[in-house]
Amino acid sequence: MEQMLKKIKEATGYLLSRVNSPEIGLVLGSGLGDLVEKIQDTVVIPYGEIPNFPVSTVEGHSGRLVAGLIEGKSVLAMQGRFHYYEGYSLDEITFPIRVMRQLGIRNLILTNAAGGINETFKPGDIMVIKDHINFLGLNPLRGPNHPELGPRFPDMTEAYAPQLQDVALKAAQSLQLNLRIGVYAWVSGPSYETPAEIRLLRILGADAVGMSTVPETIVANHGGMKVLGLSCITNVAAGMGHEKLNHQSVIATAEEIKEKFQKLVCRIIGSL
Ligand code: HPA
Repeated sequence: MEQMLKKIKEATGYLLSRVNSPEIGLVLGSGLGDLVEKIQDTVVIPYGEIPNFPVSTVEGHSGRLVAGLIEGKSVLAMQGRFHYYEGYSLDEITFPIRVMRQLGIRNLILTNAAGGINETFKPGDIMVIKDHINFLGLNPLRGPNHPELGPRFPDMTEAYAPQLQDVALKAAQSLQLNLRIGVYAWVSGPSYETPAEIRLLRILGADAVGMSTVPETIVANHGGMKVLGLSCITNVAAGMGHEKLNHQSVIATAEEIKEKFQKLVCRIIGSL
């Protein structure tokens, strides 16, 4: 644990030699990385340059931090995140969130591509995450706790800050966008779910399913950060449509809605 603190502080120290303390953290999911084009006065830092940072491998993710301004607010965006299915440990997946917290970031926007389980959802919809189901049952906080990072037993009653959900809904309204709201279920991947698993997740109360976000949300809450989660519904979940699932069509749908998505995120950041 002392080792982890040392690693967080080394990475933070390096980043502070390159950028000023940002206000807002942004994690860009599959196919959503182009949002960095909306950032002004950018400083780009490839993950490989940051001490102790893992390096990302998956298609559709570039693996760099982009710092700069959106609507006059200072943001630090992760273009490319780390997934459990890539083989990273939960410590590695959540390390950037620890670093963001150490940098002083208190508002974190997590974005992802997700399959729609709710029968009223369509590909191209955007869902505000109101809560999650950790279908892996794994927790990134397992192991010794360091009080400097957060409490031993963090509360998760408002894991996705109601105040930020409100900001997102108002931002969408001002853009005349219709947002969905629902529960996100975290699965391991990399295989997609079976139709039976999707039926089970629906019974459990999930509206969307994806392979990220939950470990980051847990660690952010541990550190007292406020989280906004946004899912791009890129496909109907397994067994609900006629088509089989594949990563290319997930990325293609995310690409199709990127304009609307980028506008929304920028408007949200402007209202924070
Ligand atoms: N399942 C899991 N993860 C996903 C999906 C899905 O259907 N779509 C995008 N990410």
